[in-house]
Amino acid sequence: MSNQAIRMIDLFAGCGGMTAGFVREGFVPALAVEWNLYAAATYAANFGADHVIAGDIADVTKDRIPTADLIIGGPPCQGFSNLGSKDINDPRNQLWKEYVRFITHAQPKVFVIENVDRFMKSSEFALLNQEADGGMLKDYKLSFNILNAADYGVAQRRKRAIVIGSRVGKIPLPRPTHAKDPGLDPDLTPWLTTADRIKDLPKNPDTTELPDSSIEFFDKKMQGIFKGLDLHVGRQPTERSLERYNHIPPGGGRFNLPDHLLSPCWRKKKTGTTDVMGRMQWDSPSLTIRTEFFKPEKGQYLHPQWDETDPSNRVNRPITHLEAALLQDFSPGYQWCGSKVEIARQIGNAVPVGLAQALAKHIKKYL
Ligand SMILES: C[S@@+](CC[C@H](N)C(=O)[O-])C[C@H]1O[C@@H](n2cnc3c(N)ncnc32)[C@H](O)[C@@H]1O
Repeated sequence: MSNQAIRMIDLFAGCGGMTAGFVREGFVPALAVEWNLYAAATYAANFGADHVIAGDIADVTKDRIPTADLIIGGPPCQGFSNLGSKDINDPRNQLWKEYVRFITHAQPKVFVIENVDRFMKSSEFALLNQEADGGMLKDYKLSFNILNAADYGVAQRRKRAIVIGSRVGKIPLPRPTHAKDPGLDPDLTPWLTTADRIKDLPKNPDTTELPDSSIEFFDKKMQGIFKGLDLHVGRQPTERSLERYNHIPPGGGRFNLPDHLLSPCWRKKKTGTTDVMGRMQWDSPSLTIRTEFFKPEKGQYLHPQWDETDPSNRVNRPITHLEAALLQDFSPGYQWCGSKVEIARQIGNAVPVGLAQALAKHIKKYL
């Protein structure tokens, strides 16, 4: 590898989870586009505001698109599966058209698309393949698959569709570095666990609010900048919620609740959605951290600490913003802007930094 900087563009950059992974491997951001001002501010707080366009990707004129070695990012997928149109001019495919437009102008050697796992079955994916097969992306060879972040050293089981497009020879997807059960494979280590990431944090956060601090980014005053324990904010659950949490052991969920603590809809719906009101386990990775991880009724978000015989040694609360960020593999010093709800959305929407880093480390060898 030469020492020349590898320049990248991050489209739909969010708070910068994907960029953070590539920066860890020495890539240099040349442009980031993100229209949510709070997410763009978080990105800017960590990587600088000078190369951020905090606006709609469709409004970025071609003179503002630099050349780059790499484009990363995933256009949000409408997910209308086979009903969708494979015509790039269909307005529903506008964001894909934008992504392709950036590739045409920036002429990257490689691009990486990250998306929800159902993306592989979407019309957007069909459209992408069509463009690579003699269309506007005809110089690029595609590799794609669904990767589990836990297999790449992230303490979270999160499946994402990853596409690598390359015009410097086909680049296969990186091989897993971790496994649930590595057996005798010398190239694999066991999955990281929630304990690896969050066990040393205070069990009882001493606040329910972010510190009183504000900052201006992109002509907008907003809450921030927060980092580390600033984000270790608790909640004020009702007595009934606490009673519910106290019935749910690690790996358990709403099915562990006695009848009198079930909500009417849970009582009616006796099957499905097993991770609802779930409690994490210390010796496993978490399940997917989504944008509302602070609501236990939305997934497996209860803190893993549990003592079968001593209820005073249980932690009956959902994970905090800091814990969620660490399970997404952000560093404790990552800087955040926006309200609690906005920051949670940024965390839940991000690509786990460790997964992005694994992609970066792998792709770097081909550049
Ligand atoms: C899944 S998130 C990206 C996460 C990011 N890759 C990360 O790792 O942190 C998708 C982002 O696309 C942004 N977005 C959606 N439509 C956009 C548009 N037309 N122009 C710019 N950004 C847009 C959303 O605000 C959201 O932050």
